[in-house]
Amino acid sequence: ALRPATVQDLKDERILITAGPTTTAIDAVRYITNHSTGRMGAAMAEEALRRGAVVDYVLGVDKGVVRPVPSRGSEGRLHLVEVRTAEEMAAAALSKLPTATGVVATAAVMDYSVASPSASKLKRASDAIALDLVPSTDVLGSLKGAANGQWFLGFAAETDNVEEHGAGKLKAKGLDFLFANAVSKLGASGATGFAVGTNAGVLLSAKGERHELALGPKADIARQIWDLIA
Ligand code: CTP
Ligand code: CA
Repeated sequence: ALRPATVQDLKDERILITAGPTTTAIDAVRYITNHSTGRMGAAMAEEALRRGAVVDYVLGVDKGVVRPVPSRGSEGRLHLVEVRTAEEMAAAALSKLPTATGVVATAAVMDYSVASPSASKLKRASDAIALDLVPSTDVLGSLKGAANGQWFLGFAAETDNVEEHGAGKLKAKGLDFLFANAVSKLGASGATGFAVGTNAGVLLSAKGERHELALGPKADIARQIWDLIA
């Protein structure tokens, strides 16, 4: 069936998107990460490409991570960079910032990094061990600090007081928009948050606007977010 052509309302935009999890190594064979699979970022990228944008996509990769699938004809407008650590993500994103018109930060960046990963494999022992963790680079904060006119959309996944925490982050991080969603308990037939195909939440703007988006596929959530901010 013929579908109506998507409006090309992002054709003058070059959008920098961070997505997926970051990881931090414990030793040569082990690492710590989170449950992000990059699905919300992929949905945001696919819809932006459909609407005519150029997308610089900085993806934290891990097992099972999802990559955007560009619609036919938009393949050449997707530029994918794969990273693992928060520090690598910050460096890659900062290098793409000067040409960006806007930033979409969907990445689930690890807030802490292992202080001194072991170059060799740690051996099993009967004693308890402690891992020293130090704060990771704030990717979005670095981008904000280096910005020259770009607009910013952040994401926040919260287990409680979703909107209150979201509003606090919108303000504290100096963003134009923030999408806040609840994280369902893992294993529950949860429909929002990590590693699921659906989401729901509230889009907040610096101007004080507030739009609740009902539960739906992440592609539908992405389309509504772009409808609201385009
Ligand atoms: N973010 C980032 N780099 C970090 C942490 C967060 O770029 N080191 C970005 C995320 O991609 C997201 C936004 O900041 O767009 C909010 O992330 P979140 O983890 O909710 O914010 P935090 O300030 O880390 O708060 P929390 O203590 O709830 O994790
Ligand atoms: Ca965090």
